[in-house]
Amino acid sequence: GAASKGSYRHFMLKEIHEQPAVIAAALEGRLGDHGVLVESFGPEAAELFARVKQVHIVACGTSYHAGMVARYWLERYTGVPVQVEVASEYRYRQVVVPEGTLFVTLSQSGETADTLAALRFARERGYLASLAICNVPGSSLVRESDLTLMTQAGPEIGVASTKAFTTQLTALMLLTLALGRIKGLAAAEQSALVEALRGLPGLVDRVLALDGMVETLSGAFAEKHHALFLGRGAHFPIALEGALKLKEISYIHAEAYPAGELKHGPLALVDSEMPVISVAPNDELLDKLKSNLQEVRARGGELFVFADEGVGLSDGEGVHVLHLPHVHEALAPILYTVPLQLLSYHVAVLKGTDVDQPRNLAKSVTVE
Ligand code: G6P
Repeated sequence: GAASKGSYRHFMLKEIHEQPAVIAAALEGRLGDHGVLVESFGPEAAELFARVKQVHIVACGTSYHAGMVARYWLERYTGVPVQVEVASEYRYRQVVVPEGTLFVTLSQSGETADTLAALRFARERGYLASLAICNVPGSSLVRESDLTLMTQAGPEIGVASTKAFTTQLTALMLLTLALGRIKGLAAAEQSALVEALRGLPGLVDRVLALDGMVETLSGAFAEKHHALFLGRGAHFPIALEGALKLKEISYIHAEAYPAGELKHGPLALVDSEMPVISVAPNDELLDKLKSNLQEVRARGGELFVFADEGVGLSDGEGVHVLHLPHVHEALAPILYTVPLQLLSYHVAVLKGTDVDQPRNLAKSVTVE
């Protein structure tokens, strides 16, 4: 049944490997030839989206990281200003809600206490409408929101969220395209993104095939006490998510920084005992990232770089490069999540922790 590990050693590993199928499920019936079918968000979505002037996104944990990625996408492709906040902060401050603001919650479970309380708080604040992007049909969040988009990831058992995150990102790209369509995103850009989305499950499959190589890299982490994750742009939240996964299941202290902030503090911590993991897709920030990586090498830090096959980075003294297939720049955050999931999984297995049920953590935090 759904709650069986099959041939996998852990639910987390099974859920990581389900990603090509569940990303395909999240896209199923929602893409037209040239754009997203806006009615996927509900019958009133087209009319409501036309009135959206701002977006506020609220979530917790891994779901919050998905929201952070969406800010880059929505501002880039729709021109709509976006704020993203953790629910436990949002619900206790005097939020200013400009006219025409769409309130978006992200949640795997749909039962996270802070996220649900944020939605109830938001209802009194004059938002245009609320949209829940959620994985559990009939959950409280889904029942109480005006619009919903289900992520279609299926049951997620591992406490450390994997497939729920990549399907949330897929759903958020659908939201970006739906809003973009209404806000005048060029037809050619819409078509290119739709085509890239259709190719995404196949690319995730190809990244999963690199599992053995990621496992080899994981050996360098098992004896370490700290790790630093770097990313720029939409890959900063992916670095945050990579660090969160490592913390959650291997209990190694991990931090994430936008690479440009390295010299404002974390560089002081870098030495041979502090591995540095970086995601380096082939985007406009690559050259800047390369110089950040040199700063790390100059301090003796061992570097692990996940990079596009075309970026011209290669293995060297203290530098380990794992090449990923080329992907549309916008979808790189989804693809680059996968090796970071595999890395933390293998480090945890080496350390012998309880991968699916890490200490002190719960799958769904339904009390404050
Ligand atoms: C807990 C889980 C995380 C999850 C977070 C938010 O902390 O351990 O994996 O990201 O809650 O949960 P939600 O169900 O709202 O996405």
